[in-house]
Amino acid sequence: MLEKPPPTVSFIAAVHFLTVCLAPVSPCHVSAAATDQNIPAIANYFNTKSRYEEANPYLLVDILALNHSAVKPPAPKCTAVHLTAIIRHGTRFPTAGNVRKIDTFQNLVKSEAKGDLSFLPELKAWKMWYKEEMDGRLVDKGRADHRHLAQRLAKAFPTLLSKKNLLDKRVKFITSSKHRCVNSTLAFKQGLKEFFGVEEEDSEYAVNDELMRFFDSCRRLVETVEKNKKAVEEVTRFNEGPEMKRVLEKLADRLQVPYANITMDSVEAAFYLCSYEFAICGLNSPWCQLFDEVDAEVIEYSGDLKQYWKKGYGHDINSKSSCILFHDLFIRLETAANQSKSGLPVSEAVTVQVGHAETLLPLLTLLGLFKDSTSLTSTNFALQRGRAFRCSRNMPYTANLLAALYDCPDGFRLQVRVNEKPVTLPGLDSFSPLYQDVKEQYKQLLQGCNQDTVCQMST
Ligand SMILES: *[C@@H]1O[C@H](CO)[C@@H](O)[C@H](O)[C@H]1NC(C)=O
Ligand SMILES: *[C@@H]1O[C@H](CO)[C@@H](O)[C@H](O)[C@H]1NC(C)=O
Ligand SMILES: *[C@@H]1O[C@H](CO)[C@@H](O)[C@H](O)[C@H]1NC(C)=O
Ligand SMILES: *[C@@H]1O[C@H](CO)[C@@H](O)[C@H](O)[C@H]1NC(C)=O
Repeated sequence: MLEKPPPTVSFIAAVHFLTVCLAPVSPCHVSAAATDQNIPAIANYFNTKSRYEEANPYLLVDILALNHSAVKPPAPKCTAVHLTAIIRHGTRFPTAGNVRKIDTFQNLVKSEAKGDLSFLPELKAWKMWYKEEMDGRLVDKGRADHRHLAQRLAKAFPTLLSKKNLLDKRVKFITSSKHRCVNSTLAFKQGLKEFFGVEEEDSEYAVNDELMRFFDSCRRLVETVEKNKKAVEEVTRFNEGPEMKRVLEKLADRLQVPYANITMDSVEAAFYLCSYEFAICGLNSPWCQLFDEVDAEVIEYSGDLKQYWKKGYGHDINSKSSCILFHDLFIRLETAANQSKSGLPVSEAVTVQVGHAETLLPLLTLLGLFKDSTSLTSTNFALQRGRAFRCSRNMPYTANLLAALYDCPDGFRLQVRVNEKPVTLPGLDSFSPLYQDVKEQYKQLLQGCNQDTVCQMST
């Protein structure tokens, strides 16, 4: 493990200096509270660019609310002994590539669009403010996402995420090296400190890319999926197919630009421009009106197809590349169970691990969650309307997997939650199965699933 030395006060001062000097000046020109009226009609379809609130709408009423019927311990006599939370970073700026696409598209609208769209003047007057150097950085909303999640988890697991455990350093933080993940980790910690009224400046965390960015170093994944166009041919086919063709034509018709000028890049740029303005600024921008919900479902499916074939069930190596994280999780659970059994204090009450959609989705897939009975393909969009593999629900900003181990009168029990909602693991029929049964269910993976072996290129 790459242990990063605890940052000193001067490091914190430096971070603060950079924030003040490099942060774009008040990027959101309108500060709008996210009221119902400000929610775009297509907000439920933003895929991995969805707000966490769309996946958990009760948070719109109270961002610190818990669904008490969902977060009960397995039985009254159980005590929580360990929690591992694997969390995606919070809301972020577009990546440099997406900023370029947005720029091209808004220029096209400004120079070519005509006609009588009521909101065309608003589109033409819109000021491009996304810059390439924003490159996927965490935004204020993203920091709030993590602060609030931390506070809800402190309420949901009061004996584990406690002030004492935090001060005694029994809450461990591990993050991907990407700035949006490091800053999410710091925001999560800040949320806990606020919650407990802890003043002390301590920003200890460990950077571990081997664990949180396993996808970079898994050669078989890189060679056979990441760099292989054929691995995503279903996505290409769908994007060239009849459903998407209709979306492109409708967009061209609305703007009255030649069909030749509207590409898949234009569709993505417009769609995600709406999502960024909404997630980052809370705005229902005029860009959102370029699509109706029928279009949005098609664009959402295209995104899900991509995730499915690059990170999900599409190829076996996608999920297998997370073997290292799978084993890491079970070693933590096992260690906690062993310590608890021998009456020792659990040395690591809570582990918070911050990564990416590319970190979490393969792991959820390896665990067998959100699996549909048929594959997602270019030709079964209509059939897949009710699919379980839906990233707008499962993989929004700050998506998380929570594994909570409880010591109960009849043995250890494990509760798994995704985005704070309990899930049943495949082959098990309760929200709080016996830990022993969970291990039995994943026996093959626990005995195999060797990172080096699965990531090797076969000869
Ligand atoms: C709370 O959780 C329960 C059980 O999981 C679920 O049935 C219910 O819909 C949830 N309530 C809200 C407001 O999401
Ligand atoms: C996020 O973290 C990076 C370093 O990891 C730092 O340069 C940057 O200023 C931070 N941004 C904010 C807004 O905290
Ligand atoms: C629109 O398409 C035409 C024909 O393909 C091309 O000549 C023109 O440069 C395009 N305009 C823009 C703004 O992309
Ligand atoms: C937990 O205890 C079992 C049984 O004593 C032992 O085989 C196993 O190695 C221990 N595992 C860990 C991670 O401590």
